[in-house]
Amino acid sequence: MTDLSKKILVTREFPRAGLELLEQAGFKLTLPGQDDPMTPEALIAAAQKHDALMCTLTEKLDAAFFAACSHLDLVSQFAVGFDNIDVAAATAQGIPVGFTPEVMSDATADIAFGLMIATARKMFFLHKSIEKGEWGCFQPNRHLGMELTGKTLGIYGMGRIGYKMAQRCKGAYNMDVLYTSRSPKPEMDAELGARRVSFDELLEKSDVVSAHCVLSQETRGIFNADAFRRMKNSAIFINTARGPVHNEADLIDALTTGAIWGAGLDVSDPEPMDPANPLLSMETVCVLPHIGSATQDSRNGMSVRAAENIIAFYQTGKMPFVVNPEVLGG
Ligand code: DGY
Repeated sequence: MTDLSKKILVTREFPRAGLELLEQAGFKLTLPGQDDPMTPEALIAAAQKHDALMCTLTEKLDAAFFAACSHLDLVSQFAVGFDNIDVAAATAQGIPVGFTPEVMSDATADIAFGLMIATARKMFFLHKSIEKGEWGCFQPNRHLGMELTGKTLGIYGMGRIGYKMAQRCKGAYNMDVLYTSRSPKPEMDAELGARRVSFDELLEKSDVVSAHCVLSQETRGIFNADAFRRMKNSAIFINTARGPVHNEADLIDALTTGAIWGAGLDVSDPEPMDPANPLLSMETVCVLPHIGSATQDSRNGMSVRAAENIIAFYQTGKMPFVVNPEVLGG
């Protein structure tokens, strides 16, 4: 039986689809007055008056937050990534953390795929050159980009989004697919002719290296000067995961010195990216403002999933998509 007296703090203006589910289920929602992230102090003060939190990556839920809000029944994150949340601290307080995988995988893979093509053909840079009045006559030997057909794709972190990116690259360009993953993926090997390799082999053999990992101790800064040095001079680096997965100074250096050829980024470190960042004026770099999941379908799906996690918890004590299932007894 759902406990309808539960009060849910909704931190941002999420799509209505999920909020309506919560309202229909009878929960009392506190909606944000404006769509700006709350300060940590305001977030703690507000969360202390509620039973559950529906939040996203703009909220930093650290150990201090969980120490101050240990009364919370749950946290429901509107995102597949949860590096803004100290999950160990939540777990220590017995607080389950829900998240929203799968529903945004296609949208995010589309952005990785689009950035790959845009970078290979210098699209953003050339668009800007037209705005500056630099479209001269047809030039047989200028603006030359890179073809993708038959090239090798390296997926760093073969999860749901990496798989969707690999499917697109295989289908469109018959690319050979290499990947890193904690466990073998025989079904993907069979479907895509993919091969699980070491990080070093991925770097050395791939023409396009696309990051699809979570941000963790292990992955923070893994694309550093050493990694870029191991990549082909002709390689393109794509990051639609999290900015800190690459070291930005090392990336700028690798592009400037020709250690790698290009980069397509949907994420940066920090975000937002400084408009004066040298990456933004490089010919073979395309940058987007963290819009991987930004389609109506995807964001509606995330909203519904975040709401369903809350409803399921209060109805059954379980959450369909939970980061720390041990809190709920496995
Ligand atoms: C996520 O879900 O983690 C994205 O970065 C935002 O949708």
